[in-house]
Amino acid sequence: MNSRNGVVENGSVAHCFNPRTDIPATEAEAEHVQDPAKFSLGDFIVGQSTDPLRPPPQFTQWRKAGAWEASLYEPELLATAGVRTTINYDGKRHPVINLCSYNYLGLATRPEVIAAAAEALQRYGMGACGSPTLSGKTDLHRELERRVAEFLGREDAMLFNSGFGGALGTISGLLRKTDVAVLDNRSHLSLRDGAVLARSRLERFQHNDPASLDAALSRRKGKRQLVIVEGIYSMDGDFADLNRLLEVAESHEASVFIDEAHSMLACGPNGRGAAEHFGAEGRIRLIYGTFSKAFGALGGFVAGPSETIDYLRFYAHSYVYSCALPPVVIAAILKALEIGTSEPQLRDRLWDNAHYFRQQLNGMRINTGHSTTYIMPLIIGDRARMYRLGHELRRRGLFVAPVDYPAVPEEGICFRACVTANHTRADLDEALNIIEDTIVPELLQHA
Ligand SMILES: Cc1ncc(COP(=O)(O)O)c(C=O)c1O
Repeated sequence: MNSRNGVVENGSVAHCFNPRTDIPATEAEAEHVQDPAKFSLGDFIVGQSTDPLRPPPQFTQWRKAGAWEASLYEPELLATAGVRTTINYDGKRHPVINLCSYNYLGLATRPEVIAAAAEALQRYGMGACGSPTLSGKTDLHRELERRVAEFLGREDAMLFNSGFGGALGTISGLLRKTDVAVLDNRSHLSLRDGAVLARSRLERFQHNDPASLDAALSRRKGKRQLVIVEGIYSMDGDFADLNRLLEVAESHEASVFIDEAHSMLACGPNGRGAAEHFGAEGRIRLIYGTFSKAFGALGGFVAGPSETIDYLRFYAHSYVYSCALPPVVIAAILKALEIGTSEPQLRDRLWDNAHYFRQQLNGMRINTGHSTTYIMPLIIGDRARMYRLGHELRRRGLFVAPVDYPAVPEEGICFRACVTANHTRADLDEALNIIEDTIVPELLQHA
């Protein structure tokens, strides 16, 4: 989580919070942070500490008071990110149905992927041991760049050792102080951080709202502007309203950058993401994606015109000054790409599961917000209730992610569930039964 200048941001940009007046001001008063549910990460950005290495005492006190709530975070998996896995819960091995994973197509655990990685490990050893610019690139890296470019019908592609670093490096590598980054207000933090690093001006538009985008672009007429959207929004699970937003961007002659982190390989008839899903590939010059979601691995990429990629190879600092992905990971991604492009039935299963699960949830009157994809918020809207239910769900063997403010607005506090191609109907029905026994009665009681 991160925050700056009175704007708290996490998975998404710009949930401005109202500065509170009831935060304990002194160290002695900090002892009185008794009820952790009354506070959030939005409250401790600025503290009384005079030493930057010392966090605000109020924060430390709040963390102690909220240890039970916080124990839902950073869970330890004791097995693969499969649909049924084992986690450490309360110091014990605990079997769960996993609705927490980005392993959308099940590729992280495919035997062919594991075999390809094992072979590369033997041949290349563990690390790349160098920046791609100087010494970290193998023939496998170049092959993956070519394959990604070919897959997306682009002139070239380049790889980053993390998705976050890829977005950060690309945006900060392209934008300059006099430019404007125009972001959807639900965009991922990596995108905003890229614009901040570039010291470019930041304009935000209301989520998926063409009129708001039009107004944002009009405010900075005459400047170089980059409209930044996501294929599928990672907290809300809805698509960008791509064609309508593109129309507005085009009317202002603004360039568009799309983050396909959650959509790449998992949607579009051939897996080429939201741009393909909406038939908009020809209208978007630069495509960014991650290998940490449907590819089941790690890393990021950007694909587009070779002159742009060539420029970024020198000006994206997270590329030039950071070690290349280990060859073992590249080999796994190459195999995952091969499987993901040759087995469209994986995407069919993913989408069937997503529609089924959401329909069943909505049938139980669970609010899934604007989700139309395999990412679904189960909106609870109350912090204390969400943490209480979170523990009950874990105890009952359902693994979903708690999502608190400021990652989402207060009224959107939720669990995030992700379904995958590998979930069976039995897995999903068992999960739904647990939800019916736990969340549904609570929501009815507070309706
Ligand atoms: C929309 C979006 N972009 C970028 C990233 C960063 O990707 P990675 O986790 O591969 O670093 C994420 C991570 O979840 C994301 O959701």
